Amino acid sequence: MLTRTLPRNLEPGSGELPRAGTTAGAFAQDMVRALASRPRSISPKYFYDAAGSRLFDRICELPEYYPTRTELRILSDHAREIARHMGPKAEIVEFGAGSLRKARLLLDAMDRPARYLPIDISGEHLAQSVAALQQDYPAVDVHPLVADYTQRLLLPAPVPGSGQRVGFFPGSTIGNFTPQEALHFLQVAAQVLRGGALLLGADLVKDPALLHAAYNDAQGVTAAFNLNLLARANRELGARFELDRFAHSAFYNAPHQRIEMHLVSRRRQSIPLGGDCYPLDEGETLHTENSHKFTIDGLRALAMQAGFRPGPVWTDEDRFFSVHWLHAPAG
Ligand code: AVI
Repeated sequence: MLTRTLPRNLEPGSGELPRAGTTAGAFAQDMVRALASRPRSISPKYFYDAAGSRLFDRICELPEYYPTRTELRILSDHAREIARHMGPKAEIVEFGAGSLRKARLLLDAMDRPARYLPIDISGEHLAQSVAALQQDYPAVDVHPLVADYTQRLLLPAPVPGSGQRVGFFPGSTIGNFTPQEALHFLQVAAQVLRGGALLLGADLVKDPALLHAAYNDAQGVTAAFNLNLLARANRELGARFELDRFAHSAFYNAPHQRIEMHLVSRRRQSIPLGGDCYPLDEGETLHTENSHKFTIDGLRALAMQAGFRPGPVWTDEDRFFSVHWLHAPAG
């Protein structure tokens, strides 16, 4: 059966993979590489197709998932002070913009924002969020960019007469990078934001029981989010993962200060993809995400290593989450 949703008329299991150089091609290449390597692991950026982005929005509303509401509270409690640091006519560049909810708090408090540049890998989701935002903020110049900001950062020139350029990287997405990737991202951000600053959200180390609950919610939304990676491979790559043969697993790895998410094979099985078959034994896993947790000092040290000068840090009273003002090097 040929389905219209598959790229270039890919038939499930036909052996043909999307061409290299395309987004689907990169996903195909990374999925094949993940299944062929030991340990098997793939970048969490592939969670975020339209379905995955919707599931992530649901995660943010879960009672167990404290980071979103805690960061929103920190931002709303300190919005005026943050806006003072931004100064008049600042431009916000948001990395991985998602639903844009947090940026609204900044836009509400800012003095004549010059422009808002949300960057996201999921074009469909970004377009919907930007349309909703633009309705509520008709006077703000919104310039969405569909891009993978982990690969390269090419930004338009600042608006003439604008104030400082402020990067906004909320949600502790920095925790989904490896430590080397996090440093690289910060180094690139320091360059792109020269003369400006970065407002960075980072989840903090805490009681592992709270962390475990946040990534193993009772409604199973995080499990569905994790399994959507395989569903996406079926939709986009013509793979034939049987989702009920995999279980969601999330646990705190204390020595690495990170939650790890995996998809565990429930049985011995063989995955046909791109003309080859990849064996998986019962209990073997595909490692899908790391979510690093930070100490405030550790995050500031990392930022300094990348060339930033740490400024104020805002936290909630439980010290679950932190928001950092980091001065970028002079322009
Ligand atoms: C986007 N990122 C910061 C989330 C996190 O907590 O690491 C992604 C997520 N994974 C499972 N639940 C949420």
